[in-house]
Amino acid sequence: MSAPPKTMKAVVENEAENGVEVKEIPLPPLEDNEILVKVDHVTLNPTDWKHVAALSTKGSIIGCDYAGTVVEVPGSVSHQRSHIRAGARVAGWVHGGLFKDRGAFAQYLKVPADLTFPIPDDMPSEQACTFGIPFYTAFHALKYSQKGPWPPAKAGGWFLVYGGSSGVGLFAIQLAKLMGHLVVTACSARNFDLVKSYGADAVVDYKDADAIIKIKQVTGGGVHKALDCISLPDSNAFTLACFAEGKGQMNVILPPDSKAVAARPDVDVQSTLLYTLWGRAFEFGPRGGAKIPLPAIKEELEFHRELVAKIPEFIALGFKAPPIETRGGIDDIAQGLADMRDGKLSGKRYVYTIE
Ligand SMILES: NC(=O)c1ccc[n+]([C@@H]2O[C@H](COP(=O)([O-])OP(=O)(O)OC[C@H]3O[C@@H](n4cnc5c(N)ncnc54)[C@H](OP(=O)(O)O)[C@@H]3O)[C@@H](O)[C@H]2O)c1
Repeated sequence: MSAPPKTMKAVVENEAENGVEVKEIPLPPLEDNEILVKVDHVTLNPTDWKHVAALSTKGSIIGCDYAGTVVEVPGSVSHQRSHIRAGARVAGWVHGGLFKDRGAFAQYLKVPADLTFPIPDDMPSEQACTFGIPFYTAFHALKYSQKGPWPPAKAGGWFLVYGGSSGVGLFAIQLAKLMGHLVVTACSARNFDLVKSYGADAVVDYKDADAIIKIKQVTGGGVHKALDCISLPDSNAFTLACFAEGKGQMNVILPPDSKAVAARPDVDVQSTLLYTLWGRAFEFGPRGGAKIPLPAIKEELEFHRELVAKIPEFIALGFKAPPIETRGGIDDIAQGLADMRDGKLSGKRYVYTIE
């Protein structure tokens, strides 16, 4: 394998009208325990266009989810796994959008050696790169926050995945099933077959005026656990209305709507912000505006490491990637971000080849 070059192409924030440009920038300097990965495929998440629109500062590398090949394992790396070697195929996600030396939409990226997973031989990189933010978010909510069992398990009971056709939703359906739940989900009618093929036992159209009544009927009076994968005020209210009376937990992945939450004091509402899984302190907030300082949380990093180590097992258990649409190369990512921002994506992930 030839030595990596000194510079690389990356999608960076430019704070101009379209938000990003492809620029030639230096390769990221590695920190202790970090490896260098030559990226070959990436997928887009809503957080990417949201960072571009309002959070990233000039020069930050955009993008989180990647698949690629290890090219450099410095002597500082103590993590001993068979895929921590030059030439191994790896995938995962990084905290993109906030740093000038850390992001996935680039020819090379750096990542801690113990926070990347080996891609199974029979899995194409185009699929492996989707096991990033949406996959980890489902586990963060159902396993870390709701303290569900590691799959396979027999937890029992109905679980509501609101927004089952979203990236997070398709992984949450599969995880809830592997945790032993019966899964009811809400999505558009055009995606009914899709969510059933990922394991949903029952599905309703969230635009149906009787959707909540139907969910209560199918679940025998309502659920005690749910993940709201859309997490807007209407979806918070919908999801909470599907709970049976008494103790329950709903997880949200955007700040919860206080009015909806106040209406159901019996339901514990917990919010997930996936970036805390890196175990690093950082500031979160709008470009040029007030930032919220977020501390490093040791338990989150420990959970992250434990989850990464188990991913090949979960893939072997049957976790499958969402449907993908391959859409071109690094120069085409800006259009994909705009299409996602404009709500054009439904029931799949956009994947790009990085050469
Ligand atoms: N806090 C965190 O750490 C975290 C982590 C991951 C994601 N998120 C956030 O979670 C949200 C979902 O992310 P994602 O990647 O899963 O999204 P996504 O795949 O891009 O979402 C697209 C899907 O959303 C569905 N949808 C849109 N509006 C809906 C509504 N009102 N009700 C039900 N479904 C609706 C569409 O379903 P239909 O076509 O079937 O209507 C479509 O399939 C985003 O806002 C993202 O920023 C937060």
